[in-house]
Amino acid sequence: MGWVDAIRDHGNLLFIHLRDVRGIVQVVFDPRISKKGYEAATGLREEDVVQVRGKVGVREKGTENPYLTTGSIEVYATDLEILSKSKPLPFPISEKAMVFGEELQSSPEKVDEELRMRYRYLDLRRPSRQSILLKRDRIIHSAREVLRNHNFVEIETPFLTRSTPEGARDYLVPSRVHKGKFYALPQSPQLFKQLLMIGGMDRYYQIVRCFRDEDLRPNRQPEFTQLDLEASFIDEEFIYQIVEELLATMFAMGDISLDTPFPRLTYDEAMDLYGTDRPDTRFGMRFRDITDIVKDTRYAIFQKIVSQGGVVKGFCVRGKAGQLSKNVLQNEYALKIVPSFGAKGMTWMKVIEGKLQSNIVQFFAPQEQQRLLERFGARDGDVLLMVADTSKDLVNEVLGRLRLHVAERLHLIPSGRYMPVWVTHFPLFEMKEDGISSQHHPFTQPEREDFDPSDLDDLLTLKSRAYDIVVNGEELGGGSIRIHRMGTQRKIFKALGLSDKEAEAKFGFFLKALEYGAPPHGGLALGMDRVISMILGTESIREVIPFPKNRRAYCPLTQAPAPVDPEQLEELGIRITAEGSGIEWAYATEGKPRDDSKRREPRVTREQVLHVAKLARLKIPEEELDAYANDLNSILDYVEKLSELDTTDVEPTSHVLPMKNVWRLDEAMDSEKAEDVLKEAPERMDNFFKVPRILES
Ligand code: AMO
Repeated sequence: MGWVDAIRDHGNLLFIHLRDVRGIVQVVFDPRISKKGYEAATGLREEDVVQVRGKVGVREKGTENPYLTTGSIEVYATDLEILSKSKPLPFPISEKAMVFGEELQSSPEKVDEELRMRYRYLDLRRPSRQSILLKRDRIIHSAREVLRNHNFVEIETPFLTRSTPEGARDYLVPSRVHKGKFYALPQSPQLFKQLLMIGGMDRYYQIVRCFRDEDLRPNRQPEFTQLDLEASFIDEEFIYQIVEELLATMFAMGDISLDTPFPRLTYDEAMDLYGTDRPDTRFGMRFRDITDIVKDTRYAIFQKIVSQGGVVKGFCVRGKAGQLSKNVLQNEYALKIVPSFGAKGMTWMKVIEGKLQSNIVQFFAPQEQQRLLERFGARDGDVLLMVADTSKDLVNEVLGRLRLHVAERLHLIPSGRYMPVWVTHFPLFEMKEDGISSQHHPFTQPEREDFDPSDLDDLLTLKSRAYDIVVNGEELGGGSIRIHRMGTQRKIFKALGLSDKEAEAKFGFFLKALEYGAPPHGGLALGMDRVISMILGTESIREVIPFPKNRRAYCPLTQAPAPVDPEQLEELGIRITAEGSGIEWAYATEGKPRDDSKRREPRVTREQVLHVAKLARLKIPEEELDAYANDLNSILDYVEKLSELDTTDVEPTSHVLPMKNVWRLDEAMDSEKAEDVLKEAPERMDNFFKVPRILES
């Protein structure tokens, strides 16, 4: 029994591919074997569900199909029963050609992702998609086995709970019984797993769904799965060992071998060498600090920045002088790309015949040049890229982005290589616009406990016992050793500016538990969708989630979130205000984006508006840039909303506009009107825009 994957009618002989989750087999309907079966088969359509009886036989030589594991046999049908019919499909599903040498039928990449998501149950019928879910199951199973071998116990924690401190916005669930009050869906089981430690369950794990209402990126989903673990009477080394065994075991399910132990970098080292706390260590180009070499140079930019206490750093691109032309280095990187990363500029030098070459090399003394060559270990054909600024953090960040940009452009990132690295000793606190906040969460153990909670400088130098596991530049997991003494916890709250009353209101239940003998404990959570997506090499984490949401946290399949019955709201004591009522409201306000879209990362920036204006040969006054960017963003928002319309029953149209000659004769404009039009022209000649000459080759 199974689905009809594909049909091939030879007139007097009919072949089908019969498919289920275990594979495909060819069935032959031959009227000489069964006239009834053959006749019934002529009415078959793709994706009908059928039951076939027949005899298995070896295929004739030369008709084998190497695309199928069963390609050397076929079933000669004696009976056919159609169990259910399928409507015509919104997109082709079959992935296997029926005859060797024929183009494979379809692949998920060829079909619009929104459409696949809307008919996810059809998309899931493809062998390639089913194989992802089967492998997901095996990977998770292998992780469970490792944890059980180490006496970890799987324990469930509640979904209807209070807000957890992971820093994203909560999804709230209104309570009918307690009107006006809300549960929050957990952003992670953080507090419950700590309560389990206090409850004496000293090795806990859970494969658990977490919910976070945050701005979506390709590797984020509003609900995602963590492999969450916690243990008592342990230190970092225990967690590192367990997680290394877990990851090595899971990656091995995808035939990827990870060498253990994994290398480690402190947060400071990661920032200094790679400019990010998620370093991609598959390729070199580590940064070198050259501030000491250039502090007395005649090159004014470096000299000035160093004299103001700034830093100059850079990295060496091995053997790429031929691919990074002077034009690319100067006009693209120094003038455009690096400034768009936030630095004022970039200095570059090439090594040609043992000597440095660039537009500014003459300002560097021979000895300085020699030391630069040595510091970077530079040889002929290498390119040095350097950035200077008074802020070391900015230099690191910009170089970090530049390193990735150059590596991607020059294809320097090896594929098929997996480089895990632990990043440790994160700062405990970070400075945000509204003051100091925890970089991980407020229950993370500081490296020392003798800090003064009112001394901001001291607090900002404090390191934590937090760690992240990063593979190929992607954060796969994070965790920490936790605070287990109330005195330390109080000091942390004080440092965060939380009064006893506020802390009590937020986490009172948890603080109380800390006072009843909490064991030293710590743990970590792996983002399983990211782990599995990396092992299986899928484009996005959406491919490894059975029913994912799209980039707007919308489910095209169920059309959630959706309005609810007024009675339901009434029962909950909730009324929707005009502001919450969605699209009509958002676009009735002169196309201005709603407040919440302002909080999203802008997709069209002022720089992009300027770029488009330049291409269109238009001058845009500075004060109008934001307005244009806003308009373009709200158009994009609107277009995204359109993808949520259900167009199932709408006839497709091939031409939106009537086909007619759109070229028109240029007619002279009267000069008053022309003045108005030409006022935006960067350059004019009589009554015309002046545009650059275009050369065609
Ligand atoms: P953290 O917030 O770092 O730690 O989350 C752990 C891991 O979960 C994954 N992840 C996500 N995956 C998909 N979509 C998302 N929106 C998303 N957000 C996070 C990442 C991340 O590394 N309670 C702590 C763990 C601990 O301290 O033990 C926590 O949740 O891969």
